[in-house]
Amino acid sequence: MTRRLENTASGLATAASILRAGGLVAFGTETVYGLGGDATQPQAVARIFEAKNRPRFNPLISHFPTAAAAFEQVVPNALAQRLAKAFWPGPLTLVLPRAAGSTVSDLAADGLATLAVRVPRGDAAQTLLRLTDRPVAAPSANRSGRISPSDAAHVLEELDGRIDAVLDSGPCAVGLESTVLDISDPARPCLLRPGGVTLEALQAVCGPIALPDTQSDAAPLSPGRMLSHYAPHLPVRLDVTTPRADEALLAFGPQHGSPAALVWNLSEHASLEEAAARLFTGLRTLDGEGARRHLRGIAVQPIPEQGLGLAIRDRLTRAAAPRPGASSGHAYSIPAT
Ligand code: TXA
Ligand code: MG
Repeated sequence: MTRRLENTASGLATAASILRAGGLVAFGTETVYGLGGDATQPQAVARIFEAKNRPRFNPLISHFPTAAAAFEQVVPNALAQRLAKAFWPGPLTLVLPRAAGSTVSDLAADGLATLAVRVPRGDAAQTLLRLTDRPVAAPSANRSGRISPSDAAHVLEELDGRIDAVLDSGPCAVGLESTVLDISDPARPCLLRPGGVTLEALQAVCGPIALPDTQSDAAPLSPGRMLSHYAPHLPVRLDVTTPRADEALLAFGPQHGSPAALVWNLSEHASLEEAAARLFTGLRTLDGEGARRHLRGIAVQPIPEQGLGLAIRDRLTRAAAPRPGASSGHAYSIPAT
């Protein structure tokens, strides 16, 4: 049984004591719900992988209440200090050389010479991390390869019975995972995953940033980059301008009598912030309801590639990508008539 804890002083205290005892607690951050475990206890970290069914070669992000706490575990350079000042607490993860005295277990860091650290925003996450007073490893609280959870009900759909508790702090404000930036070589910042902090905002602080190759499975660099990820059960068709009656539609912008059988509008007035916050719930809803109604797939309207659109498109491209072991792609197309 997974306990549902309220976002109250006693709920937070219980959550922190479960974490300190080596248990697993999912908690809301501004991005998505994380599946938290004490990063310094290898058994707790092993339980995270087990609960998620996650391949063990994936390194985890360690979470901290402050930049000062994060920078005890890594070797921060001047760029890290500037980025922390500009974006923490907030949806940015920095990959830096691991400090010699780091207490984060090898299992959480996957034995790498670098460590991913993040200071999330949001009162519940902040208080929980402060009370726990340990680095907290937290991948998104979904089964490996599935859609990330942006509220506590999604966490229970994925992990009920597999974790000790979920701390319910309501829906996540940003709704997309953090941006992961590798600055272990500050002369060459490299974007490993687009996310809640836009590339434009980062470039204003860092200058030029090397971009990920979204077409390839750059597994060794950042295993979360696996091409098939965020996978709904229904196939996904991208950049659709004319949806069909037998499709579920993930819409963006004003709709004028769409023929689609089922519509989830990411944002009526084409706001990328609103679209990001509604993305994972929309995919989950269309997937469940669309399958019940025997629809052929999920059609996605075009989404601009600037600002948060880069991260939204990245997640949708992965949702449409071929699944490991599948003989054909999960994307489908409809011949032009
Ligand atoms: O918003 C988020 O980042 C959420 C919340 C819960 O904080 N967490 C999250 O964790 O998305 P996860 O495990 O699903 O994604 C972590 C990403 C993966 O792509 C992983 O490969 C990458 O960070 N990563 C972690 N440590 C790394 C390292 N040392 N070098 C390169 N990439 C790393
Ligand atoms: Mg994830």
